[in-house]
Amino acid sequence: MRSHRRDTLLGLGATREQPAAPEQPAAPKEIAWVDAERLLVRGYRLLDRLGVGGTGEVWRARHLGLDRLVAIKRMRSDHPESNDRLVREARSIARIRHPAIVQVHDVIVDDRGAPYLVMELLEGDDLARRVAADGPLDQDRAVRLLLGVLSGLEAVHRHGIVHGDIKPENILLSIDDTGVEKAVLLDFGLSHAFEPGAQHTATLAGTPHFMAPEQIVEGAVGPASDQWSACVSIYSLVVGRPPFARESLPALFDAIRTAALPYPRDVEMDARLFAILARGTRKVPDERYPNVHELRMTLAAWLRSRRPNPRFDP
Ligand SMILES: Nc1ncnc2c1ncn2[C@@H]1O[C@H](COP(=O)(O)OP(=O)(O)O)[C@@H](O)[C@H]1O
Ligand SMILES: [Mg+2]
Repeated sequence: MRSHRRDTLLGLGATREQPAAPEQPAAPKEIAWVDAERLLVRGYRLLDRLGVGGTGEVWRARHLGLDRLVAIKRMRSDHPESNDRLVREARSIARIRHPAIVQVHDVIVDDRGAPYLVMELLEGDDLARRVAADGPLDQDRAVRLLLGVLSGLEAVHRHGIVHGDIKPENILLSIDDTGVEKAVLLDFGLSHAFEPGAQHTATLAGTPHFMAPEQIVEGAVGPASDQWSACVSIYSLVVGRPPFARESLPALFDAIRTAALPYPRDVEMDARLFAILARGTRKVPDERYPNVHELRMTLAAWLRSRRPNPRFDP
């Protein structure tokens, strides 16, 4: 069963992967934000809830005019600050066109002034769910998937934006129209503009396990912090758990700031891959790769070296 799924995911099988069983829609009393026609907002019918994150929830929806499926994100709190953040998120994504970055279609506002972000619907699991269900990913596959995401992240940085929340839960494993598996980066809820060379100070937000030391110590986030989080994500996908997992938050922060990246004992990780991830997670940002492009090139060279004769590899 598992190998069939894997073949399908690699684009070798003819069938599409079945999407995860949708979560039950929230009870009507929790969805006071939709109008009298229940589950209908500004020309979109909300169908079922695809996922819930730290701040928002995402629904599968149908645009009735075009008769096409989309994904719609709304904030779980009606606080003006979180609504502003959703609009900022939409504007960040709208600037970037890249196959590994989720596409935003529109921002709509309901009668009560609450915004909704309309984006492309990606069928599939996020990588956190996938690892929880099927176990860790093979190292070559994890790196291959993240190469696309890193290319997308380069585009994000080129636009002067830091993502700020790279982690498996925010990467969706999807299959494109040609049947090829690809990973797409979502959730720009913590993204912000940065000035090259300047230190940006953000409020402490994001998922602690994937946060860079500079993020937790000074709240200083730059492209190098995204690089850290991407490397910790690759490690987590291959090992099945983040490298600095600890019982309490202070112990976790302490480990992120001071502990060396642990060499995984119970799963196979090539020593050269480990060395790349160790460089990308140096405690001092300047000691990491100069930028995400360099990290991506190094990972791509590692992946190529794993296939001795690529000419005969279909
Ligand atoms: N475009 C999309 N297509 C399909 N599922 C999505 C899409 N965007 C988000 N999701 C799902 O919803 C979850 C929450 O969305 P996310 O934007 O990460 O919210 P939050 O900002 O609260 O973390 C994601 O982890 C993912 O599983
Ligand atoms: Mg999220």
